[in-house]
Amino acid sequence: MDELRTHIERLDEAILTALEGRSLFLTREWSRPELQTLLDLTELFQAFDRARVQVPLFPNELFLALFFDASTRTRSAWAGAAARLGAHPVVLDGSSTQVSHGETAEETGAMLGMNVHALGIRHDLIPGEGNTFLRAAHRGIVDYLDAIGERRAVPVVNLQCDVDHPTQSLADLAWLRERFPEGLEGKTLTVSWAYSPSYAKPLSVPQGAITLMSRWGMHVRLAHPPGYELMPETTEAARRFAQESGGSFTVFNEMDEAFEGADIVYPKSWGPYDLMLERVEANRAKDLERMADIERRALERNRAFSDWICDERRMDLARGADTLYMHCLPADIGSEVSPAVMERARMDVAREANKKVYVIMALLAMAKQTRLRARLLELLGA
Ligand code: CP
Repeated sequence: MDELRTHIERLDEAILTALEGRSLFLTREWSRPELQTLLDLTELFQAFDRARVQVPLFPNELFLALFFDASTRTRSAWAGAAARLGAHPVVLDGSSTQVSHGETAEETGAMLGMNVHALGIRHDLIPGEGNTFLRAAHRGIVDYLDAIGERRAVPVVNLQCDVDHPTQSLADLAWLRERFPEGLEGKTLTVSWAYSPSYAKPLSVPQGAITLMSRWGMHVRLAHPPGYELMPETTEAARRFAQESGGSFTVFNEMDEAFEGADIVYPKSWGPYDLMLERVEANRAKDLERMADIERRALERNRAFSDWICDERRMDLARGADTLYMHCLPADIGSEVSPAVMERARMDVAREANKKVYVIMALLAMAKQTRLRARLLELLGA
């Protein structure tokens, strides 16, 4: 208990106050000290959970998450975070809402915001649309609450958009901090494209990883075949952050070279850039045939790079058994990663995934609880 109390007292009071009411749209919009405090709180909530200390900060509140794409981990992390904070979790399938019938993001935000106390959204499939939807939904909530003179904070949490997957990258970072207690400065992290035959995956996981990891003095490498570029705004941010933090950011078109000597590898698939952009028009026209054709062409394009797999040979090019393998999951075993590499990393990736529940708890507690430090000390009975 003494350790938990010390951990609470170490939280930066001024930053906690500044973050009250704050929504998370992109990690790159948060300062490094703000992210540091968020990670400290994430670790505290994990320690509370392990010590069976309950933190029912928000009894009788409703935390709703809206998913416009499939999810196992993030959905359950949202529900787990809400339950641990004493709130009721609800997860809605976006396709069952009126959005597909033309209800706007602002209207949806207002309609949900009048009933709920926190809103999570996943909207990740169409470039240029997901993050815009999140911000518009947030505007809808704020405008409604302002109009009725209601002062409660209903934060919006990005549960994966077209640009970023912040609860994933923060969970990844929390796992890296645990795995490398000596610090991340100077470590080499390779974020690499890997082959997938299953579906054309969004760009936001690698974009989220390079824009967050480049802020901690690491040597971040991005590897992909030609044509699998990421949104330029994200590679530009990674380059700038690396320079500011004393690390580096380098792009490779070859997987072997990018793996050489790496401490950490994060090999994962995403869709070809031009075809992901082609989705925008097809989606606007509600042209399902064209959407299916884009998907078919993306998978055909992927097949040309089926040797981009994280296997034992490539792990040996890195640091062999000392290389940390990371993945956001689910991984295409046999395509993105060999069965042997995945089997060895099975518990590591599970521990990485488990951090997300504490990241979401931290985001919601910071945004919604005034005098958070004092309230946590009360709950600890200190
Ligand atoms: N990594 C991740 O976000 O998993 P889900 O898609 O299952 O939520």
